[in-house]
Amino acid sequence: DTVKIIGPLGNGFTIKDKKPVLVAGGIGIPPMLELAKGIHLTYPNMEITAVLGYRDSNTFLVEDMKKYARVVIATDDGSLGVHGNVIDAINIEAGVFYACGPAPMLRGLKMYAEDKGTEAQISLEEKMACGIGACLACVCRTKDIDEHSHVHNARICKDGPVFDSKEVEL
Ligand code: FES
Repeated sequence: DTVKIIGPLGNGFTIKDKKPVLVAGGIGIPPMLELAKGIHLTYPNMEITAVLGYRDSNTFLVEDMKKYARVVIATDDGSLGVHGNVIDAINIEAGVFYACGPAPMLRGLKMYAEDKGTEAQISLEEKMACGIGACLACVCRTKDIDEHSHVHNARICKDGPVFDSKEVEL
């Protein structure tokens, strides 16, 4: 069968010349592998750390990530790495955090990064209908007023999915 697709849509992470710590859980891990590759291509000598959260020792993409980053693992059941979530494992000096994963993880990282005064770029997930900013199915609450809808919203599909953690409320 032939399917029509539109893309790529939305924005992406902005790679900075700062010590990167990548934080990811579950389905947030694959995009961080691509980001690690991108950082490595842009700054080949940059030391990259990836903090990856899994439910248990059934991990994935760890060996791929190790080609680009020092990997720290956290598991919910403690069967591998740090027992707990990625925030429990994140006691690492960072120039910038990049994160993708479930909302509670992103909320924890936002608080942690803001507490430390460290920039955090977070990639949000939401159910999407149009993908091009027209239907407002995917809005998140923001600090500033959106010039499209004139309320404290941003469209994750078009304005995101990556936001500065200080711009959004989780
Ligand atoms: Fe329609 Fe985002 S999915 S505005």
